[in-house]
Amino acid sequence: TPKKANAPPGTPLVPPQDLPSRPRRNRRSPSIREAISETTISPANLILPVFIHDGEQNIPIGSMPGVDRLGWRHGLLDSVAEARSYGVNSVVLFPKTPEELKTPTAEEAFNADGLVQRSIRLLKDRYPDLEVYTDVALDPYNSDGHDGIVRDDGVVMNDETVEFLCRQAVSQARAGADCVSPSDMMDGRVGAIRRALDREGFTNVSIMAYTAKYASAYYGPFRDALASAPKAGQENRIIPKDKKTYQQDPANYREALREARLDEAEGADIMMVKPGLPYLDIIRLLRDNSTLPIAAYHVSGEYAMLKAAAERGWLNERDAVLEALLSLRRAGSDLILTYYATQAAKWMAGEH
Ligand code: PBG
Repeated sequence: TPKKANAPPGTPLVPPQDLPSRPRRNRRSPSIREAISETTISPANLILPVFIHDGEQNIPIGSMPGVDRLGWRHGLLDSVAEARSYGVNSVVLFPKTPEELKTPTAEEAFNADGLVQRSIRLLKDRYPDLEVYTDVALDPYNSDGHDGIVRDDGVVMNDETVEFLCRQAVSQARAGADCVSPSDMMDGRVGAIRRALDREGFTNVSIMAYTAKYASAYYGPFRDALASAPKAGQENRIIPKDKKTYQQDPANYREALREARLDEAEGADIMMVKPGLPYLDIIRLLRDNSTLPIAAYHVSGEYAMLKAAAERGWLNERDAVLEALLSLRRAGSDLILTYYATQAAKWMAGEH
């Protein structure tokens, strides 16, 4: 018979179960929980992606509340200064290119005086110890809205594109980039970029490969931010509506391992999985099959989902975001690219 609920503390209400193991003992106080916590996260793990444009003002992005296209120079410098003051010392640059500078072969990608190249020089001049990452892919510069060069019959050409990616990567390295990040998913690009960089003397410039990049619906807000979505085809030219002939099928797991083995053999310094939260299994797969550092991209659509729910009061934004980032770490990522980088670092510092 159960004892009364107002019996002295410690008096069992029912006879104890005969349990040798009670996992709750290890969760009984903040001290024990902290002592055995398996995963940590700090601002040093975070990389802030920044959108830049060649104007004065910061321009809000409709589908990414709280994220702006930053004006060159002040908006960019201020945003980086704020991130650094909270311990986020890594940024990756994404340019919004005016339509009139876009071409089918995206030459603006390797303009020595292009927006990205100028921004790298500006940032490295002001903050020599800042880790500046760049994106290597043609989509921000390509009038067809693809990461590679589109032939009239709609084929996204591999080896021709890789030539252009090498020129883009070298021009970014020449401007002072610390790490170039091919996000295009062309075959052989990591090795080709490594050789091109080395030939030009940039043996110290790293490559963070977008190794397992999926053809994901979660990139929508990013393409809004840069107006970089695939364009409509014309009468005499076919333009693929999606990126499925180069980005991976979300149904595929083993394919990620195949890409990882290639990127590692081709000389990648860091391997990335993208998107993040829907692909935790892929992060774990790469973590367990390589000794390289692994990065996860918590992409624009993941940001937008959290923002939308938080704005409606449906989620506690701070708790939900920090849990998402911690989960990316627990799955095995060392680095996390996230639009929440500065905000998360503030929360980690105890601010609101
Ligand atoms: C371009 C690129 C994309 C993203 C990063 N680099 C978009 C795409 O592949 O269409 C997406 C990032 C995000 O959604 O936050 N190669």
